[in-house]
Amino acid sequence: MEIRDNLQIKTFAEYKKTYQKSIEEPEAFWKTVAEKFTWTKKWDKVLSADFKKPEVNWFQGATLNITQNCLDRHVKNHPNKNAIIWEPNDPNEESRHITYKQLQVKVCNFANVLKQNGIEKGDRVCIYMPMIPELAIAMLACARIGAIHSIVFAGFSSKAVASRINDSGCKMLITANDYYRGRKSIKLKEICDEALENTPSIETVIVYRRTVNPTSMKEGRDKFWFDELQKAYAECDPVEVEAEHPLFILYTSGSTGKPKGMVHTTGGYMVGTTYTFQNTFQLNEKDIYWCTADIGWITGHSYIIYGPLCAGATTVMFEGVPSYPDFDRFWEIIEKFKITHFYTAPTAIRSLAKQNVKHVEKHNLESLKVLGSVGEPINEEAWHWFNDNVGKTKCPIVDTWWQTETGSIMISPLAGVTATRPTFATLPLPGVQPAIMDDERNEIEFDGKVAEGKLTIKAPWPAIARTIWNNHQRYKETYFSAYPGYYFSGDGAYRDAVGNYRITGRVDDVVIVSGHNLGTAPIENAINEHEKVSESAIVGFPHDVKGNALYAYVILYDHNDATNSLKQEIRDMVSKNIGAIAKPQKIQFVTELPKTRSGKIMRRILRKIAANQTENMGDTSTLLNPDVVEEIQKKKV
Ligand code: WT7
Repeated sequence: MEIRDNLQIKTFAEYKKTYQKSIEEPEAFWKTVAEKFTWTKKWDKVLSADFKKPEVNWFQGATLNITQNCLDRHVKNHPNKNAIIWEPNDPNEESRHITYKQLQVKVCNFANVLKQNGIEKGDRVCIYMPMIPELAIAMLACARIGAIHSIVFAGFSSKAVASRINDSGCKMLITANDYYRGRKSIKLKEICDEALENTPSIETVIVYRRTVNPTSMKEGRDKFWFDELQKAYAECDPVEVEAEHPLFILYTSGSTGKPKGMVHTTGGYMVGTTYTFQNTFQLNEKDIYWCTADIGWITGHSYIIYGPLCAGATTVMFEGVPSYPDFDRFWEIIEKFKITHFYTAPTAIRSLAKQNVKHVEKHNLESLKVLGSVGEPINEEAWHWFNDNVGKTKCPIVDTWWQTETGSIMISPLAGVTATRPTFATLPLPGVQPAIMDDERNEIEFDGKVAEGKLTIKAPWPAIARTIWNNHQRYKETYFSAYPGYYFSGDGAYRDAVGNYRITGRVDDVVIVSGHNLGTAPIENAINEHEKVSESAIVGFPHDVKGNALYAYVILYDHNDATNSLKQEIRDMVSKNIGAIAKPQKIQFVTELPKTRSGKIMRRILRKIAANQTENMGDTSTLLNPDVVEEIQKKKV
């Protein structure tokens, strides 16, 4: 697969035709796509799946190694093309340019480090690292030998990393001693040390030295990255794995306390991410692509690493934040590397749009051709600001709807090929069959009229997560039970009269804060751990920069404890248990929560209060304690 091959759809008519074919003959369609890749052995059957079981198999019988597609084939065709360009947090530190040939050597070298520390095909390896090239190298090294990586976002707390390590029984932890983020420097190894007190499955810890600061190392367990590399060969043959062999586990929040370890497998994920990358972004040979996500999230997995590298693109990785040293950091980087494709999140756009526009105007952004947005609905104002000030009205904006679970982009314009429409993710990619369900759980067939309801997908696509690690039952209940035979996304959607989709937001207990998918239950659990707290409820409320922020309603054992310092303790508690991104913006102490007779908290009401939408509270007759609503409202913070 290369960037400019004949799979890139070039006109709207071609999109229509391709889409039609992908729906009528999915196996023939995906076979044509899959044939562009390097396989060790071809498949016996393209697709066998049943959403009722649920069970999904793509390219059964085939074997491959994804790094042959990300690295080896490009080393043959264009060894000296940059694979990764890395920009550090501090603009005074040097950027790093890593060619495909160099990346291959680094990956193979590190794959041998994994092997010499006892890692084998199927073993789980936790990677808890900042946005440095070694994160990419570590993940690809796992893939090289068939080990399963589980990347945990470096902003997560020690408890969060420990619970993820334990859930999947990781044998190794790969981390860095310290890292930089804006003005802060974070002692990551110290956080690891706390986690490692409760992670019996970890045998080895590999530590990359991002700084020269002293680092505590446990004899026999902890080893420095560079010391290990010295002992390792630079060549490493790719290990052949089955198409359905797990490539990685990535945890995402759910509506109960425990995060879900979504399992993505190798063959379908490779085909799906690469095909959607090529068609959504429409890169050319010499283009420079930058996605600002963190590799700790699915966006980074699919569209910083696997999709772009399989397509042979140059992908930019940035260690820092948009506001450091100043609010023009993104625009400075676009100018510096002549970025052509810029993929970011609505929350970043909104926060930068609040700054003086001179930050943007100061920089030459003429290289830009395509802009992208992901993570949450992009509001009209942010869309126009992005379009006018960054794209100078010349760059199509691809508003890409997808999820950790979908693995690849599902609904999005194809840049310059299909039309954009502000606030709409527009049309499904080839092979994707969205459906809107009504309140009676029936599909609202497309008949040229507008429709609104719950968003489902009615046929399998190659990059769908295959299960939840160690919990197939939960996978079934969460995604395949609400609408038998359909995958349920958890989102609401509106469809216009020509078939464009607009995502209206989550319909479950997940809140998207600054593009981060946060389950309310784990945050409540963290708050409830405070000895003075008896119960709590978290809801999201609209926030002009973050999209949503968190509002916590907290019941105390003793109402005399209701002080600002306790609010601070609660925030610290959340920070420690989950991470700073989950800290509630507002905390209100209440004496009771509105509950149904069956004891379920009526979040709908709490959401309305938090959002100041109290004119129409809806039906409160099923409440056990209707009086509490007014009391909470009166004391709103
Ligand atoms: C949820 C998935 C996909 C990578 C980043 C988030 C929301 C995502 C859009 C979009 C409206 C969007 C949905 C979805 N979302 N992209 N373009 N327009 N909403 O992955 O953490 O799994 O979150 O993000 O609510 O369900 P995730």
